[in-house]
Amino acid sequence: MRMESDPIVPSDQLMSVAVAAARKAGALLQDYAETGFRIEHKNPINLVTDADHAAEQCIIDCIHAHFPSHGILAEERGSATRTDSRYRWIIDPLDGTTNFAHHFPMYAVSIGIEYDEQGQVGVVFDPTRDELFTATAGGGARLNGRPVWVSDTHVLDRALLVTGFAYNIRETPRNNLDHFSRFALRAQGLRRTGSAALDLSYVAMGRFDGFWEIQLSPWDMAGGTLILREAGGMITDLHGNPHSIHQPELVASNGLIHSAMLRVIKDSLFQD
Ligand code: IPD
Ligand code: CA
Ligand code: CA
Repeated sequence: MRMESDPIVPSDQLMSVAVAAARKAGALLQDYAETGFRIEHKNPINLVTDADHAAEQCIIDCIHAHFPSHGILAEERGSATRTDSRYRWIIDPLDGTTNFAHHFPMYAVSIGIEYDEQGQVGVVFDPTRDELFTATAGGGARLNGRPVWVSDTHVLDRALLVTGFAYNIRETPRNNLDHFSRFALRAQGLRRTGSAALDLSYVAMGRFDGFWEIQLSPWDMAGGTLILREAGGMITDLHGNPHSIHQPELVASNGLIHSAMLRVIKDSLFQD
């Protein structure tokens, strides 16, 4: 049952709370990076730190203070609050935990806000570079307030691509290594940054031309997919069908190299 009392909130109000929460959580992450943090293992290569938990709590507190009726889906805590709201905040408090744990400065806070399961606001904040990526549905994408667009690279030979690997890479043959080796021979360059939220944001502002991954979670994508779409990018599943953040795979690009990326993926799928 949905609550009739959940008032419509203008996007700029949602945005200002999301930005404040992301900046506060980012500052907290930087405090932990300087003063130290505890690491726990979810599996041998999947880490979580007390900084992840503290940043998540900070964001949830901020949402509760402004929008106590809104739903929340947060990585470390799952569904943190009621689910009958038409609004849902989808949070990755620290995207790039392995990088963070190694003091490799490539991680971000990611927040996406849905209304009736449609992305309304996306925020990805990199506290190490003070880079704030933002988008509202229909309102374009921005980096630190300035509009951004995808690149105009139109062939794979000239494209810088990025991907990532899931934490079950040792346990499943569906581990993305097949796609990785094919793209390595087709693209101008191929990177693995360790933060899907930044990968999407970097495609949005043209640092990368394309990104794919096969086992992501909603919180990895909720902020960055809206930012990329609003920057003129294209996102599908591995077969070229419409994408939803509630499915694990995605191909994201500047649009111009999208069908070439899908062809490379199709070739490796065909080998299975
Ligand atoms: C991970 C990062 C990484 C991606 C993994 C994600 P986490 O998120 O986004 O780039 O390859 O699939 O799980 O655990 O650092 O929040
Ligand atoms: Ca993540
Ligand atoms: Ca995370």
